[in-house]
Amino acid sequence: MTKCPTPKRPTWAGFAVALPQRSANLHPPMSASLDQSVRLRRLRASAGIRAMLGETVVEPRHLIQPLFVTEGEVAEPVGSLPGVSRIPLAQLGAKCAELLALGIHGVALFPKVDAARKTAEGAEALNPSNLALRAIREIKAKSPGTVIFADIALDPYTTHGHDGILNAAGTDVDNDRTVEALVKMSLFTAQAGADFVAPSDMMDGRVKAIRKALDTSGHTGTGILAYSAKFASAFYGPFRDAIGSARKAGEAPISKATYQMNPANRREAAREAILDAEEGADLLMVKPAGAYLDIIRDLRESTNLPIAAYQVSGEYAQLHAAAEKGWLDLRATRDESLLAIRRAGADVILSYFAEAYARDFAARK
Ligand code: PBG
Repeated sequence: MTKCPTPKRPTWAGFAVALPQRSANLHPPMSASLDQSVRLRRLRASAGIRAMLGETVVEPRHLIQPLFVTEGEVAEPVGSLPGVSRIPLAQLGAKCAELLALGIHGVALFPKVDAARKTAEGAEALNPSNLALRAIREIKAKSPGTVIFADIALDPYTTHGHDGILNAAGTDVDNDRTVEALVKMSLFTAQAGADFVAPSDMMDGRVKAIRKALDTSGHTGTGILAYSAKFASAFYGPFRDAIGSARKAGEAPISKATYQMNPANRREAAREAILDAEEGADLLMVKPAGAYLDIIRDLRESTNLPIAAYQVSGEYAQLHAAAEKGWLDLRATRDESLLAIRRAGADVILSYFAEAYARDFAARK
């Protein structure tokens, strides 16, 4: 191995000129056996350089906290989502104010509706004093600065757990009847004070119908966050426990494959997104996030609309489960997973990690 050559001491007018001493601690001498002048490791050599040159950041303002709401009086922990509870109505305002103080402006609301209120057609969705609508009013009264994204889909309200109304034979979700119901649900939701309605049902034509209904009823200020590329994913399992939309134990989980997208399809996701943008969506969403980073990047490059990504319940649960076994470092994998979603091109991320991330972010400052 050739040694690192010692530079000759330059002289000027016969006087020796002292070379600046290099700090042995910061830049210890290394061997140079390769003929390699471009060395990217120079850009990673210290914590300061790495911090300065980091291309992507995740700040609390980039996060939206999904919140489950219960009719009950006490918080109900969700077994498959460690650290996540269904929150009683009376505690919602305080929770949202707390999130705001941490820098999290947005919440996505999901009601856990009592089984007794569920029907095949999900009519409870259109009950003006249902849990979701009361939750919106409660948050706007107690924490008016919170930005509310209200879920628009029938699955919390239907006995079968599908996002819409079934056809006469009960074999599939009826698209156009479902859109009619979602339009009415959106109007109630806007009326209650939600900032954004967030149709998560994947019916065709719902964004256009909802936009039109909002505009002709004085709700031009209510936005639409369209779940544009929502895949029929197995990562939604713990969420269905949380709102009670999974099938009973022993029965096969329901398939939503006739309306949610095939995880194999990338071009089709672009079609969905372009269509939702044309129909009047204000933000587009990709869901799940971690296994669909290519889709997030595609949408980022094909539209100028803001992109949201939903790091879903299964993505959260798998990191917690592995961390509980001591197999993964929870904080490090959490931070890396969020960073990757932002790097792929998401402006905002819906994540069950939002609050914990923001707490650690505040503590690090
Ligand atoms: C349904 C809905 C689902 C989620 C949000 N809205 C699940 C489903 O499609 O059954 C999943 C979110 C998560 O897994 O965190 N409208």
